[in-house]
Amino acid sequence: MTKKLHIKTYGCQMNVYDSARMTDVLLPLGYSVTDNPDDADMVILNTCHIREKAAEKVYSELGRLNRIKARRNEQGSDMILAVAGCVAQAEGEEMMRRAPFVDLVFGPQTYHALPEMIARVSRAGGAVLNTDFPDEAKFDHLPEVSGDSDTIDGASAFLTVQEGCDKFCAFCVVPYTRGSEYSRPAADILNEARRLVDLGVKELTLLGQNVNSYHGIAADDEEWGLGRLIQATGEIAGIERIRYTTSYPADVDADLIAAHRDVKQLMPFLHLPVQSGSDRILKAMNRRHGADDYRQLVQRLRTARPDIALSSDFIVGFPGESDADFEGTMTLVREIGFIQAYSFKYSPRPGTPAASLDNQIDEQLKSQRLKILQDELNSQQRAFNESCVGRTMPVLLDRSGRHSGQMVGRSPYMQPVHVTAPEELFGSIVDLHIDAAQANSLAGSLNNSTSNPTNKENENAA
Ligand code: 5AD
Ligand code: SF4
Repeated sequence: MTKKLHIKTYGCQMNVYDSARMTDVLLPLGYSVTDNPDDADMVILNTCHIREKAAEKVYSELGRLNRIKARRNEQGSDMILAVAGCVAQAEGEEMMRRAPFVDLVFGPQTYHALPEMIARVSRAGGAVLNTDFPDEAKFDHLPEVSGDSDTIDGASAFLTVQEGCDKFCAFCVVPYTRGSEYSRPAADILNEARRLVDLGVKELTLLGQNVNSYHGIAADDEEWGLGRLIQATGEIAGIERIRYTTSYPADVDADLIAAHRDVKQLMPFLHLPVQSGSDRILKAMNRRHGADDYRQLVQRLRTARPDIALSSDFIVGFPGESDADFEGTMTLVREIGFIQAYSFKYSPRPGTPAASLDNQIDEQLKSQRLKILQDELNSQQRAFNESCVGRTMPVLLDRSGRHSGQMVGRSPYMQPVHVTAPEELFGSIVDLHIDAAQANSLAGSLNNSTSNPTNKENENAA
């Protein structure tokens, strides 16, 4: 009888990729994937530690799963309850105390050792904690990507090229939970990309915590940066779209900018977190760029690729942020213009330098600033979406919609586009006429007719 595996993923795209790779490790052990934790023999929570809220969610989910586990025990079966990801890495020991019913707590650098860890749980019957940063690269020990896990979503896939971070922004847990920077050899990445194409992938998103600090060894023994890697990826037949995330502004080099000019599959959309528009705060954050460096960088990118559109991350209420500092962020936002963005109230994370600063900002003030920033960002996003109406855009159809006959795809700018289209178009890139815009999505149609009766339905679907 096959055993059932349920993985719940929190946080960033790296976690989505990691969950798929954990599945690839476990399928050969006789597991099959289930969406329902109630009938799972093993549940893994792949967790995120970036902000306090994200970490707290894990403990409430663990309480719920413990009740399911107890019910299964009463019925004579068992459930291995495991916690992976950055909360596991950061709070391993504390988690074993706070949730003693958890069987297995393991960090992001140990996924390849899952079979051995599961065997230890089954043998010993006690809990296992593994938050090592082993010397050997886990990628060498992971099996090939399989088409059976969630590696591929429609015709789109993530591919981790780099992991970890050496930047130590004062607010951020990533250097502690993911460890120092590691770049995979270029040949391994290109092989994985080719394999993904064989499995039907058309769009690749190259992933890294700090993806543009990529510096992997290539077959010619040279060290490649991300620009060179993107160029080589673009030479693989069948790759129709390339994206990469997440970038650090100070590490965008001339090669990467040239890739935006030269590699036709590289999408004209870039997530480039700036965090703040105040030099004083950027310095306190230990960012290695100022607000004007960011402005100039955007200018260079726009010169290389005039239709490039930007997204960003912002933190409001970093310790010591004055009204003038916040106004600096608002000025930068108004000047640059973002088509989409993530913005957060500063959340002190244990163990990071900023958490122990004594000039913390009042929660209410953080909320006020966040609202002002988000109103501006939302209106920029809406304006961009509206500017797309009437245009024709290539859309990769990679999800089914809520209504029958409906599909959802992604525009070059990552906007979800709803359309009524025949099922055989699933997984392909089609030109859609954009008929309507909403706050977070677009509605399109296959032909230029705006009187298409199905458009009404599309508009309601987002
Ligand atoms: N508080 C608030 N936001 C944070 N981020 C990272 N750490 C914190 C924190 N302590 C945000 C940054 C980062 C994004 C992934 O999460 O904006 O770019
Ligand atoms: Fe965190 Fe990104 Fe800064 Fe690294 S560069 S410390 S991942 S915010």
